[in-house]
Amino acid sequence: MKALCWHRVGDVRVDTVPDPELLNPRDAIVRITLTAICGSDLHLYDGYIPAMKPGDILGHEFMGEVVEVGPEVNNLRVGDRVVIPFPIACGSCHYCNHREYSLCDNSNPKAELAEKAYGYSPAGIYGYSHLLGGYAGGQAQYARVPYADVGPFKVPDSLTDEQVLFLTDVFPTGYQAAEYCDVEEGDVVAVWGCGPVGLFAQISAAMMGARVIGIDRVPERLRMAREFAGSETLDYGEVDVFDVLKQMTGGRGPDACIDAVGMEAHGFGVAGAYDKVKQTLRLESDRPTALREAIQACGKGGTVSIPGVYGGVIDKLNIGAAFNKGLTLRMGQTHVHRYLPNLLQHIESGDLDPSFIITHRVPLDEAPAMYRTFRDKEDGCIKVVLDPGTA
Ligand SMILES: NC(=O)c1ccc[n+]([C@@H]2O[C@H](COP(=O)([O-])OP(=O)(O)OC[C@H]3O[C@@H](n4cnc5c(N)ncnc54)[C@H](O)[C@@H]3O)[C@@H](O)[C@H]2O)c1
Ligand SMILES: [Zn+2]
Ligand SMILES: [Zn+2]
Repeated sequence: MKALCWHRVGDVRVDTVPDPELLNPRDAIVRITLTAICGSDLHLYDGYIPAMKPGDILGHEFMGEVVEVGPEVNNLRVGDRVVIPFPIACGSCHYCNHREYSLCDNSNPKAELAEKAYGYSPAGIYGYSHLLGGYAGGQAQYARVPYADVGPFKVPDSLTDEQVLFLTDVFPTGYQAAEYCDVEEGDVVAVWGCGPVGLFAQISAAMMGARVIGIDRVPERLRMAREFAGSETLDYGEVDVFDVLKQMTGGRGPDACIDAVGMEAHGFGVAGAYDKVKQTLRLESDRPTALREAIQACGKGGTVSIPGVYGGVIDKLNIGAAFNKGLTLRMGQTHVHRYLPNLLQHIESGDLDPSFIITHRVPLDEAPAMYRTFRDKEDGCIKVVLDPGTA
């Protein structure tokens, strides 16, 4: 089959690789009909998540048709059309029983690597380094789906692939980020980042009754935030975000701040250069510009919710600001399985069509060029979907 493989930093290629096979009785094989590139893939592309090996297949946002099932998968049949949550979850460990699927205790076969870095290992994730399991990803024509009796969710034929694909990650991720803010009617929620995650966080916070302020500097992303989430927007290249948020909230600051940017935040001036140099020299693994701002700008007693991915150590984080303002910090990979059925219902009932974020649809063969376009925010690129069928 054809698959998008990581070779080294900034170098991904579509290679011909062996087809996946069933390895365990609870596995299924899925023929992928649509897959997407995520902001999280950029952290692998740009080399900021460790433990990648040449030949690793990328991709954790994918859906398709079940073509083979293991003997212990009783809920799926060959021919079923499914979307697959990006964290791999066993469904029966302590964490899965608490619906904390992205913390599953059984799905990272290389847990000792993550335990060294983090103390305990989170769940395995498709196509997301050997730190998180070394699983082959879904930017490919086929994928092996472990714990297939837990992960894949069937989707109705009345909805297109484009409408349901983002249930695998960015829609639930934005939703969880907003839910973590415990929004009350009229709360002000400021969201750093108007990429797919930031946009779905803004839409979700608005649905929960918040007044939403989206922050970015890419004009088409800010436009999308206004148009689809009804957000007020700030261009951080033009205004002092802290000052303006303070003015907009009667001097109190937002009730909640969401960092939907993560470890590759863009920064200006001395602070931006400081992080870039330290990250390049590996003295700091992540660039926390947006997180620093979110903590500083958040009003007293507020919540900072962090869907943006961080991989390791950051510098100059004002924990005193968080402590003395009594902030609540919430973060983590998304418990996709928890939110997916409810969000699917919203799509089915016509409340929302997540396909609005798609700006590029191309055959899998064009994925390497699209990684560059998406990373560099060129050509109006907000979300790329790849069609492996026409590779
Ligand atoms: N928690 C999870 O489970 C989960 C799931 C998916 C993605 N993510 C993470 O969410 C983040 C966003 O993903 P995405 O797909 O939307 O990525 P993206 O790259 O499309 O969007 C990031 C946006 O942040 C903006 N930005 C950069 N620096 C900024 C700054 N200093 N202030 C404000 N905005 C800034 C960029 O212009 C861009 O629009 C990534 O870190 C990704 O890894 C987390
Ligand atoms: Zn993703
Ligand atoms: Zn589990």
